Amino acid sequence: MNPLPFSLGPYLQGTLKNIAKSLPLFDETFDPDLRPAEERFGDFQANGVLAYCKKTRQNPRSVAQTLCDAFAAQNEDFDVSVAGAGFLNFRLTDHAMIGWLRCFHASEQYEGHFRSGFSDKTVVVDYSSPNTAKRMHVGHLRSMVIGEALQRFLRFGGAKVIRDNHIGDWGTQFGILLAEIKRTGYNFNEPPEVAVETLEALYQTGSQRTKTDPQALETARKELVKLQRGDTENFALWEKINKISYASFEAIYQRMGVTFDYVLGESFYRDKVEAVYDALQACALAKIDQGALVVFHPEHSRSCKQPFIIRKSDGASNYASTDLATVAYRSEQLHADAMVYVTDARQCDHFEQLFLTVKKWFEAEKKPVPMLFHAPFGMVLGQDGKAIKTREGKPIQLHQLLNEAVARAHALICQKSPDLSPEEKRHVAEVVGLGAVKYADLSQDRMSNYRFEFDKMIRFEGNTAPYLLYAVARIHAIFRKADIDATKIKDDSDLNEFSTETERALAHKLLAFPSILALALQELKPHHLCRYLYELAGVFSTFYNADKVLSEKTDIQNLRLLLCRATLATLEKGLHLLGLETLEKM
Ligand code: ARG
Repeated sequence: MNPLPFSLGPYLQGTLKNIAKSLPLFDETFDPDLRPAEERFGDFQANGVLAYCKKTRQNPRSVAQTLCDAFAAQNEDFDVSVAGAGFLNFRLTDHAMIGWLRCFHASEQYEGHFRSGFSDKTVVVDYSSPNTAKRMHVGHLRSMVIGEALQRFLRFGGAKVIRDNHIGDWGTQFGILLAEIKRTGYNFNEPPEVAVETLEALYQTGSQRTKTDPQALETARKELVKLQRGDTENFALWEKINKISYASFEAIYQRMGVTFDYVLGESFYRDKVEAVYDALQACALAKIDQGALVVFHPEHSRSCKQPFIIRKSDGASNYASTDLATVAYRSEQLHADAMVYVTDARQCDHFEQLFLTVKKWFEAEKKPVPMLFHAPFGMVLGQDGKAIKTREGKPIQLHQLLNEAVARAHALICQKSPDLSPEEKRHVAEVVGLGAVKYADLSQDRMSNYRFEFDKMIRFEGNTAPYLLYAVARIHAIFRKADIDATKIKDDSDLNEFSTETERALAHKLLAFPSILALALQELKPHHLCRYLYELAGVFSTFYNADKVLSEKTDIQNLRLLLCRATLATLEKGLHLLGLETLEKM
């Protein structure tokens, strides 16, 4: 019998299609519609017979039975049965599961085996993308953390990923800031960490001023226009500001393990927007409306009220103009087949209009339309359920937040593992603290708002990073104690049945990993993976408490060690895909 592939869902779907092809009851429109099943029904279920029979006016129960019998005659990996009105349920046999575990119990063995709709596609992931001239605050956490996880999922799923940090370095903030720098005569004579704070303060006072004083607003507007027209003094100042603020981002990226292939900010597209205006007018998509250049999407219910403004009435470019130029650049120069944008949900309308415009524009020019995805997310709230702020009502700086997480993790580790050396404690605290912040964010459905609560994320109970990191360290400890090299377990016995229900339950859970990843990738939602890892750790605990791993029977011991090894590999791989570091000891 051939060994099973890593991803069982696509394999089973393909097998069913092939078998159906050989049966006269089916034509090529039949889609087995295979999905992971609820645990009590099996590992997978195929729902497609019902829809197919409705269409072809056949009896679903008997058609399902025919397919079931044909499948059972050819395939020994699954026990199959017909249920309800014509569903097929599939449960992996012990034999098949053990065979799979023997092939896939170390994460190196997964590499290249997980295929997805993105396999071999070039995918740009646009994430983090903060605006310069300010430091990152808590509001910048989600795009960075979710984007990092998604780009890892995509890469694991076979995509050629390009990570692009589309920083906002060309917006109205510069008019205000330039005006204020000139007014106060600020000369940048301080170290960058201090300068970034000064700039922030200058921006705040400047922005306050423009709100109350129309004269100041006009000055700021003029400074921006000067910058955008290439004035040398303003351009030099602008470069200084960007350098300082990017250095402050870089410190956070390093700490969070985030790197980019490109940092092509909005300014990169400043000489590429003219071509967009021309192209969209040439294909009659854009027209002048009250002085501005706009695109209407009247057929679209939600976006139709507001036209998509792609050039302001004063001639200036805006967020939409640069984003259109960006899509063209990524598609033509970076050869991107797909783009994924990770921003907060308030930008949904912008992306809806952007994607519609791109589709019409590229179709008009007979160019292949890239696949465009927006992965929006909700807000980070304080404990009180309102937007999270410092006591003074200011946004919380990201670096402060991370420091506090690590400090709290340190306190917890000192309590839980007093025997670690001070050096180890510091390292563990850094991994646990940062991991906790990332995980708390990722484990929520990204669409919902979530409350940022240290007490809930930095504890060993529940669906938290410390709980999962501890589960990983515990399995390492099992191998250490037994003095067994986890990478070298050999299970070449001909044992092909589990001896307990808990072993079997763990194996079922392990084999579901690729299906869960497929779901997380399809929906671009990391929380599916979090939930799975949390459940896996629970199933492992049950197994470990019930079945002695070190047994007198070598066969059984080896199989149980294999289960431990596979659990470790899955937990580690899963956490790494989420962007967390893992520990061997804590
Ligand atoms: N700079 C924007 C912000 O802070 C996010 C940019 C997202 N990417 C894009 N291509 N529009 O909200």
